Amino acid sequence: MSPLPSDGVFRHAGGMQIRVVTIFPNFFDSCLGEGLLGKAAGKGLVRIEAVDLRAYTDDKHRTVDDEPFGGGAGMVMKVDVWDRAIAAARAALPGARVILLSPQGETLCEDVARRLAREKALVFCCGRYEGVDERVSAHLVDQELSIGDYVLTGGEAAALTAIDAIARKLPGVVGRSESVDTDTFTAGLKYPQYTRPATYKGWKAPAVLLGGDHRKIAQWRAEQAAKRTGERRPDLLGRVLAGRTRLALVDPPKALAALAQQAVTAYGLRELAVCVTDADQRAQWREKAQAPQRIYGPLANARRRWKDNRFVHLAAQAGPGQAAPGEIARQLVDETGEITLTWGLSPVPGGLVAAPVIEAQPSEIIGLFAWLARFFGRG
Ligand code: ADE
Repeated sequence: MSPLPSDGVFRHAGGMQIRVVTIFPNFFDSCLGEGLLGKAAGKGLVRIEAVDLRAYTDDKHRTVDDEPFGGGAGMVMKVDVWDRAIAAARAALPGARVILLSPQGETLCEDVARRLAREKALVFCCGRYEGVDERVSAHLVDQELSIGDYVLTGGEAAALTAIDAIARKLPGVVGRSESVDTDTFTAGLKYPQYTRPATYKGWKAPAVLLGGDHRKIAQWRAEQAAKRTGERRPDLLGRVLAGRTRLALVDPPKALAALAQQAVTAYGLRELAVCVTDADQRAQWREKAQAPQRIYGPLANARRRWKDNRFVHLAAQAGPGQAAPGEIARQLVDETGEITLTWGLSPVPGGLVAAPVIEAQPSEIIGLFAWLARFFGRG
């Protein structure tokens, strides 16, 4: 990395080219030279250059900011300095996407990182939080990017975070592409991981992971991941499932939460029904305008109903002596394979008020029930 602008075209062909424009170019030295990012730079998969914004000032004090028009606290970064720095960056990296780090920007997430990883070149402009002249975002950059709803002293740590998240999406940066695919957030939160020793201070690693049955291990991991996602990040679970939602849900997490909330307020927790069915039966059911059987009873009951009718309603909470709905769903899912989950509220027996239809994998259904259990309290 060179702390001063080279302003020439990068010599390294191939790989992603990244320029960071900052008043603290040394900030990036050690972080970007270490670990996988350092190795990726060594292999030419990514080339990262930090350049000093002050190199584009035109006074002997190398001034980058000035007092805000209209008064107020803090200084504002100057549009003319940014204009020259960005013009130089665009000349050095033709076609680059120029990004201003700011809490006002689009929030960084895996999808955004994946999208930005497809760019040939990126320029990150690190502002300071007190302010950057608005004309920079209005006229000079392609987008603003935030790393979350909190305020940093400047954009440098945000740029570093974005570069890390983006660079690991580039082919060859993370050794086995599988680890990128199974990352947290690609499909919800990641399953828990363990390594030797199998028991430490009496804390045991789960036996299933030590048993060598790869089918069971894969199933356990999928279930754990879905359960965690349902419990800790239902918003993510909603997002994952949104891709497979038949009826257009404007905001699946909100829709799910709204359903649950309605049940809580209107029906005193008792009437949230989840209908587990398959697509053919659902179509038939629609045709005949026939309501599915409701099951609040034990598992054997649910199984029998499933066999007879191919769809069942499960209460969100188990009554006294009843199997937990999650457990019933798990058993039915095990026995039936791929199924469709229909959410509905039943104010009167048989009448559905709202029914977004979600295509869910068996493990995700377990995640949904984990979320329900948390929302309603353990049944
Ligand atoms: N600058 C200050 N806070 C920031 C944030 N949350 N994301 C990006 N840039 C910032």
